[in-house]
Amino acid sequence: MIPAKRIHTVEEYYFSKKLREVRGLIAAGKPIINLGIGSPDLQPPTVVVTALEASLHDETAHKYQSYQGIPELRNAIADFYQKNYNVSLNANDEILPLMGSKEGIMHISMAYLDEGDEVLIANPGYPTYTSVTKLLGAIPKYYNLDASTNWLPDLAKLEQQDLSKVKLMWVNYPHMPTGAKATKGFFERLIVFAKKHQILIINDNPYSFILNDEPLSILSIAGAKDVALELNSLSKSFNMAGWRTGMVMGKAAHIQHVLKVKSNMDSGMFYGIQKGAIKALESSKEWFTELNKIYAKRRELIWELATKLECVFDKETAGMFVWAKMPKNSNLTSEAFIDKLLYEKDVFITPGSIFGTQGEGYVRFSLCVSEEKIKEVIKRIEQ
Ligand SMILES: Cc1ncc(COP(=O)(O)O)c(C=O)c1O
Repeated sequence: MIPAKRIHTVEEYYFSKKLREVRGLIAAGKPIINLGIGSPDLQPPTVVVTALEASLHDETAHKYQSYQGIPELRNAIADFYQKNYNVSLNANDEILPLMGSKEGIMHISMAYLDEGDEVLIANPGYPTYTSVTKLLGAIPKYYNLDASTNWLPDLAKLEQQDLSKVKLMWVNYPHMPTGAKATKGFFERLIVFAKKHQILIINDNPYSFILNDEPLSILSIAGAKDVALELNSLSKSFNMAGWRTGMVMGKAAHIQHVLKVKSNMDSGMFYGIQKGAIKALESSKEWFTELNKIYAKRRELIWELATKLECVFDKETAGMFVWAKMPKNSNLTSEAFIDKLLYEKDVFITPGSIFGTQGEGYVRFSLCVSEEKIKEVIKRIEQ
């Protein structure tokens, strides 16, 4: 059987391939420490697990669920946005729960892109925006980010290009992989830009509570709902990556388009997961304070490790990664640099090049590893 042509537009996800190799090394007895992937190793709030367990005996627990999620979940998301971002959302029609924000990237793209449409995507950035765009026959149009502008796009420079075919623009602040933060002023300029060029902006916002004192939603900007959507997720904020719980928020008309796609693809989110998600969203700010105490200690150690590797990094960042520039004299590509560490020190970190050409020369360390393990890595590097 010949697969669809679209299958040739993408490659297997880097981590899907590389972690197979890492698992092979572990199976062969190598004591690999994985500082590569951003999958939280900590537990969700206890009440979340209790709520899931308790829900299993509810009469409706095992039935198909509403395509829009149960009303209590949408209400909890609305309250969470009001409390944490000062954004008012109508729980009836401005919120759509998702099975992780990653699926939302596909649903939004399917709702808005035709073949040949162009999509503005950050380089470096999360690779899924590119894959989804290509799978739909649309065209990625990269905007380069670099340290000199704190990894924010230069909108004036973008405007010098022909933007007439651009339908969507993906932004993601706090930014993965660099940890750069947006400012309110930048989001204001972005909304003006979006209105001028009739582009739908999507801010993918899963990192705003990790090592970040001022969570910011693009929807807090006046008039943003006309031209912007926001994706959010419980994966990192509440250590629930495997639960697959996220959401998209925005103007009712936009959400309706996304729902039209999504309701044809799945039949609702498992009831118990929704009950657990509600409890997570109801957490007090104390939850983030405690979580961030752990990440802050780990980050100190990763800074120490990066320094030992002669890498250079910015300390004014958010999110669960440290993005570091490789030593000038290494003469290695980032993939060769991380392979050397993998094969010589049994340590896996992520090469910056998988996030785009602008990521070459950088590596990304994850904070989803215990202090003990990071100390062990430091020891191995010192040897
Ligand atoms: C920038 C970015 N967006 C989205 C996701 C996907 O998150 P979720 O678990 O909600 O699908 C990730 C996960 O690593 C990410 O880094």
